[in-house]
Amino acid sequence: MTQDELKLAVAQAAISYVVEGEIVGVGTGSTANFFIDELAKIKHKIKAAVASSEATAARLRGHGIEVLDLNDVTSMPVYIDGADEITASGAMIKGGGAALTREKIVASVAKQFICIADGSKLVEKLGGFPLPVEVIPMARESVIRALNDIAGDARLRMKDGQALITDNGNVIVDVHGLQIEDPQELERKINNIVGVVTVGLFAQQGANVCLLGTPDGVKTLT
Ligand code: 5RP
Repeated sequence: MTQDELKLAVAQAAISYVVEGEIVGVGTGSTANFFIDELAKIKHKIKAAVASSEATAARLRGHGIEVLDLNDVTSMPVYIDGADEITASGAMIKGGGAALTREKIVASVAKQFICIADGSKLVEKLGGFPLPVEVIPMARESVIRALNDIAGDARLRMKDGQALITDNGNVIVDVHGLQIEDPQELERKINNIVGVVTVGLFAQQGANVCLLGTPDGVKTLT
């Protein structure tokens, strides 16, 4: 099976977690895109969606799915999103698509985080994938120095020769070469750096369920 076939399989499996008549939180990235396309097939069964990025909002609207402002939502049974890395206990690195801040905010309102990922994302120890950190632009260099002190090799994420700018108007610093022994502790430490908006470690609040695409079928980790 190709990676895309595995992503499609987990996206289809995630539909059974969508609660009829309720609002669904929707993540960002290629796996989330497969999910959005599946969600479109049952759009008459949901109340609306909340998007974790402008790209996701545009794709949802393109399918005729209503997208609500999170401020107008008081409860959301599930948030469904991909991950760059996930452990068997549900701690994740996210933010490869630079949407980590809105992803963490929407996930924090949902009762359950359902992670959808192809099997290559499952790791024993987080850190092989560079850890994204969203940073207020004026604090870029001070945060890079602090990250280098705490963690490792922090580098500004570039796109087309310029610093990538997030949906929130901030920059992304990726920390390379990590082997994260204690994800919750590192999440706390990086959150404490002045100028950091969000760290792409989802460990204090990780995934409640992970639907993992494997050649033997979709495995459910809880
Ligand atoms: C975006 C994310 C994505 O969930 C993560 O990058 C995985 O993306 P993909 O499904 O394309 O592999 O965190 O900010």
